[in-house]
Amino acid sequence: RWKSSLICLTGFVQAHWKDDWYFGHQCLNGCNPLLLRQTHILPSNLSVTASMLHPFLPEGSSLQRELQEGRIYLLDYEVLDGVPANVVNGKQTYLLAPLCLLHLNQQSQLVPIAIQLQQNPGPQNPVFLPSDLTSDWLLAKVWVRASDFQCHQLVSYYLRTHVIGELCCVATLRQLPDLHPLHQTSLQINLQARTSLLAADGVFDKAMGSGLKTLPVLLSRASAKTTYRSLCIPDDLKDRGLDNLPQSYYTQDALKVWDALHSFVVSWVNVYDSRDDDIQLDSELQHWITDINTHGFTQLRFCFPQSFNTKAEVSKFVTMIIFSCSALHSAVNFSQVSQTQAHYRTTTIEIKITTTYQHVCPCVSIVTMLKTPQILFLCLCMYFSELCSLSW
Ligand SMILES: [Fe+2]
Repeated sequence: RWKSSLICLTGFVQAHWKDDWYFGHQCLNGCNPLLLRQTHILPSNLSVTASMLHPFLPEGSSLQRELQEGRIYLLDYEVLDGVPANVVNGKQTYLLAPLCLLHLNQQSQLVPIAIQLQQNPGPQNPVFLPSDLTSDWLLAKVWVRASDFQCHQLVSYYLRTHVIGELCCVATLRQLPDLHPLHQTSLQINLQARTSLLAADGVFDKAMGSGLKTLPVLLSRASAKTTYRSLCIPDDLKDRGLDNLPQSYYTQDALKVWDALHSFVVSWVNVYDSRDDDIQLDSELQHWITDINTHGFTQLRFCFPQSFNTKAEVSKFVTMIIFSCSALHSAVNFSQVSQTQAHYRTTTIEIKITTTYQHVCPCVSIVTMLKTPQILFLCLCMYFSELCSLSW
């Protein structure tokens, strides 16, 4: 049954992977729904003007109005800017840090309307628009997805679920007795990942654009941008302007799961602590959060709780950990059957109207590098068959 579902899904992706609405759909409901955010101002380093974007906005409206009314969204991969890219099979790969502007149109579709592939504006870094040559616009979108892949694997997935879980797990093992109700953690999966997936000669080293030199730089940068609010789903979705977006199925599901987990945790905390005073006097719990802060998120700008004063604070924090290790992990892990690129073997397009089949072909090289292409990469085969049939 799962095979027929997969064939269905791959067929759907094959039919729609070039569509702008599907690109936006993936930002909301694909394997990395953590990056898209509503914006009311344009980034200063994105060199677009109102007149450039005017053709892609509703008749009678303006960029200013669309920004003010919350229909403009942004993907910003700044965290990838300048990080060292991997060498795969002796060949240098490349990482870009695109900016992508999206618009929520009158058909309630989120569609990309401008893509700048690098952070610093300039003549060698043009802004790609939906009105460009089909092949140029397609390649710009493919590049954004390639950058998204790196951020998904290492930031949204590894950092936001496995590393957060490990941080709290180590503090638990160090600070809480075995009988404590929070003692339900394990490091096993992370230990395995570090000796295989993330080790020398592992998948990242051999096949990913973000290799072993990329890992510490990217994880360090992404950690520096992580706030407590971004880990707490209701706050995160509100801050990113996704909380009232019906097109975001991730939002709808995540809020329901968060609420259910939160109710469970609140009732569980009530079993052990009847008043807020109990929390303040619980030295084990206070040592636990101090340990997490000391060895994990050490700077106040992250707004992580430095101590627990109320049962509500404990409940929210514990809900955040459970959500990160369970629901969020499921959202970013089991949804990886979407189109993606593990690495890119060409540099960016510096001048428009230069795209050829040879520019796009290397993005599928990962398929031939793996002895047994896995589910994750099936859609790349679809890319390949589509690209071969294009007559540019
Ligand atoms: Fe995992």
